[in-house]
Amino acid sequence: MTVSEQEFQLFIFALKNSSTYDFSQYSEKSLRRRLAKVLIDNNLNISSLIKRIKEDTNFVEKIVKDITVNTTELFRDPQVWQYIRYSILSKLKDNPVINIWHAGCSTGQEVYSMMILLSEMNLLEKTKIYATDLNTDVMNHARKGQYKFRFNIGYLDNFDKVVKENPLNYEEYFDIPYEKYFTIDKSKDIIKMHDELTKKPVFKKHDLVKDNNTLYVKFDLILCRNVIIYFNYDLQNRVFELFHDNLYDSGLLVLGLHETILGPQAVKFNKKGHAYYKNH
Ligand SMILES: C[S@@+](CC[C@H](N)C(=O)[O-])C[C@H]1O[C@@H](n2cnc3c(N)ncnc32)[C@H](O)[C@@H]1O
Repeated sequence: MTVSEQEFQLFIFALKNSSTYDFSQYSEKSLRRRLAKVLIDNNLNISSLIKRIKEDTNFVEKIVKDITVNTTELFRDPQVWQYIRYSILSKLKDNPVINIWHAGCSTGQEVYSMMILLSEMNLLEKTKIYATDLNTDVMNHARKGQYKFRFNIGYLDNFDKVVKENPLNYEEYFDIPYEKYFTIDKSKDIIKMHDELTKKPVFKKHDLVKDNNTLYVKFDLILCRNVIIYFNYDLQNRVFELFHDNLYDSGLLVLGLHETILGPQAVKFNKKGHAYYKNH
């Protein structure tokens, strides 16, 4: 099934009028493909979909979840996490308090990766972790910190690369057992983060399209990885400005591996390694 330009615009318009969600500044390609799948999976045409959007707020939440991409993993892109460990967190270690914001945290694996590193560096206690997403379903999953084991065996490889090995010194090896942070139950097909980790973050719904800083603190570090790739140029600019305004002068931003700051906000940051350092 293909969705015509007109049908796509009708859908975006209906969502904007009947809910708080505004996808008009998202890049069209991925959204349109996903919308086609939503129509097939729910056995609907565009007018019946729009009718349900107008009548049923729970259905809207489900649709929003289905048209956004929530893929994530523990220590996704391990080389980035090695950089976060050895070049970012190591420089924040003398701060009396560290504030970190995960914008677009999805089901939380990025947040748990951060807390595991902070704990290894004895920084967890003095760090405040804020994790936000547009989608409340994925955030409820994040709060629980429980994932399938069989689909996610790769998490353990990533953990080894980031937590056990030191890319700067191959002779160094930290023999940290996974059980220090999560329980693996192969018979139940479960990886479950320990309660000390699940209880720590402040999880809050936040929409990068329209919300300002509703966390009311400034940040030393903001992670917004694999989120802006779905936004158009104007929306990306809005988000970079929001981050710039809410970082401390010494603060920095980490984007997804293939994401870059382009346009007027680019001069406000200096790229070094895997991070954008605020330029004030
Ligand atoms: C691909 S996931 C990225 C997860 C994680 N940051 C990572 O890199 O592994 C993208 C997340 O961005 C969220 N998202 C999309 N639009 C958003 C918006 N306007 N405001 C906040 N989050 C948004 C989605 O709900 C989804 O959970």
